[in-house]
Amino acid sequence: MSNLLEIKNATLKFGGVTAVNDLTFSVEEGEVYAIVGPNGAGKSTVFNLISRFYDPYAGSINFDGNNLLDRNADAVADLGIARTFQNIELFDHATVLQNLLVGRHRHRSTNLLQEALFTSKVRREEKRHREAVEEVIDFLDLQPYRDKMIAGLPYGVRKVVELGRALASGPRLLLLDEPASGLSVEETQDMRWWIDDIRKQMGITVLMVEHDMGLVSGVSDRVLALADGAKLAEGTPAQVQSDPAVIEAYLGAGAA
Ligand SMILES: Nc1ncnc2c1ncn2[C@@H]1O[C@H](COP(=O)(O)OP(=O)(O)OP(=O)(O)O)[C@@H](O)[C@H]1O
Ligand SMILES: [Mg+2]
Repeated sequence: MSNLLEIKNATLKFGGVTAVNDLTFSVEEGEVYAIVGPNGAGKSTVFNLISRFYDPYAGSINFDGNNLLDRNADAVADLGIARTFQNIELFDHATVLQNLLVGRHRHRSTNLLQEALFTSKVRREEKRHREAVEEVIDFLDLQPYRDKMIAGLPYGVRKVVELGRALASGPRLLLLDEPASGLSVEETQDMRWWIDDIRKQMGITVLMVEHDMGLVSGVSDRVLALADGAKLAEGTPAQVQSDPAVIEAYLGAGAA
């Protein structure tokens, strides 16, 4: 296997806080790689660096041979990196279907004039977007909610729609920021099967931040433990969970 994503010596500071501290890790094509760590460890900040919401202070980020630091957030999405957010970000006053169609945005190759004239190319593309979105709706069992407004949906369903919006873009790398947070035991179990299928059936590489160690152990090939923005340990879920430095970071955070 080869590295799809490589982060080398990345550092990001917010004022006096070093949120990411000389961090190096890579994600292999086809794996599920999890980042764990106490609150404030810098996990979401790593995602924001990859998504190009923030510029690192130092270091490099490469995706499939492309230097991401040369690109903006839109260009990163165009390369095939999609994400979900720790706090769900959807259009509340649009339907599930409409939100998923927004996820297809990066694939639009027609221009405004063509759309105004509604050429056959536009019709073909529209059909392709619809088909891709209907596949995601089937995959995630979202049929009952297809035409419902996001605002009225239970939290657990909105969480699935957000996963769907990221999937609809047809990514090569999916970044999931706490996919199971706030979910019930049954919903977490569903999330686990979906992440497994996303990797095995769709062949999408997954980089996931998650606190639920049951889910992390269940789906991840490798785990990175972060504390204060730096790497504490990396290895299989079992290796990382039994690492003395990791245990101390969690107990220390709990005792503080
Ligand atoms: N935009 C920002 N401005 C200032 N400080 C920030 C900003 N974003 C994050 N931080 C700080 O950077 C550190 C890392 O935050 P981050 O959100 O990455 O943590 P996390 O590991 O995702 O935590 P959690 O498990 O609570 O989501 C924290 O100290 C946080 O307060
Ligand atoms: Mg976070």
